[in-house]
Amino acid sequence: MLRSKIAGIGMYVPKNVITNQDLTQYMDTNDEWIQERTGIKERRYADRTGETTATMGVEAAKIAIERAGIIAQDIDFIVFATLSPDYYFPGCGVLVQRALKLKEIGALDIRNQCSGFVYALSVADQFIKTGMYKNILVIGSEKHSFGLDFSTRGRNVAVIFGDGAGAVVLQPTQDPNQGILSTHLHSDGESAEILAMYNPGTHANHWGQYADFAEAKIGEQFMSHEMIDKAQNFPFMDGPAVFKKAVVKFPEVVMEALQANGLQPSDINMLIPHQANLRIAQFVQQQLKLGDDQVYNNIQQYGNTTAASVPIALCEAWEKGKIRQGDLVCLAAFGSGFTWASALLKW
Ligand code: UT7
Repeated sequence: MLRSKIAGIGMYVPKNVITNQDLTQYMDTNDEWIQERTGIKERRYADRTGETTATMGVEAAKIAIERAGIIAQDIDFIVFATLSPDYYFPGCGVLVQRALKLKEIGALDIRNQCSGFVYALSVADQFIKTGMYKNILVIGSEKHSFGLDFSTRGRNVAVIFGDGAGAVVLQPTQDPNQGILSTHLHSDGESAEILAMYNPGTHANHWGQYADFAEAKIGEQFMSHEMIDKAQNFPFMDGPAVFKKAVVKFPEVVMEALQANGLQPSDINMLIPHQANLRIAQFVQQQLKLGDDQVYNNIQQYGNTTAASVPIALCEAWEKGKIRQGDLVCLAAFGSGFTWASALLKW
């Protein structure tokens, strides 16, 4: 049976390190609160003009392509996951196609926030398994620092997020001991507004029962002064509500992947959870009774990089020699939507 394998992996994080202490010059916060509630010590911020979501994705992609032992022109499809695209449209996929001088291949953008990369991997996996494509570039990248409320009003969101990118090249394999065993995708739109960026958008106050949206006037549908005054151009998050759902759905979707393959938590060599909050990852570890060497976290250094967090953590764990050939690796993510997902693979 044809399976997909990760043939090459790469990551890119900007050089600019922002410590918790650095954030105190913009908002009323402190290192102790941030570390205690999230585990984050520092994050990276992209260069204001020189680095974009797409360019960071390109840097990660170049490494993944080289490690896969192919050249850029061998790529036959792109799947790009982000919530912070360079443009509202077109998506980042075409910018990668242009920057890497790829053939006129298909480029698909995925909008699934924190679970974006796992969704993207699942989509790419289907194309490989059907034999349609042979070298798919899957990217997760975010430039959060451009869209956060750095006043005290936005501190519960702003301190969490960081910038960066991760990428993999997926290829087909006939090896029964290697590749993606299964992927599992879920959503529940009931709480769509509790972790969301409302504008720019076409909602025109339609979903007003969930949030106090500013009225959209003719000619101002996407963005009005009133929307900006109400801070509705920034991400909104009801943190505790997201936390409560995350600690249920993370273990559930990991167990779903294991059960689909007749496996147990003890079979996992490495769990790569989306880096939302160290406390969430530790809770999941405890629930699944996993040892410290079975879970990889790096939110301490990079913050929450949403669609980039899983490939960055996977890449770093692999670069540190914590993932070896034949290892059972589980990727799991939960976030805005809500959407959540897992992927189980043999490295
Ligand atoms: O990846 C996307 C998915 N997102 C998540 O999974 C995030 C899930 N949620 C969380 O990680 C946590 O809810 C947060 C880290 C966002 C917040 O932690 P919390 O323990 O839930 O705190 P809280 O929101 O209940 O706020 C507690 C207090 C509040 O003050 P009062 O009302 O008790 O006086 C906040 O105003 O902490 C205050 N606060 C801060 N204080 C210092 C909120 N943000 C900050 C801050 N610095 N940055």
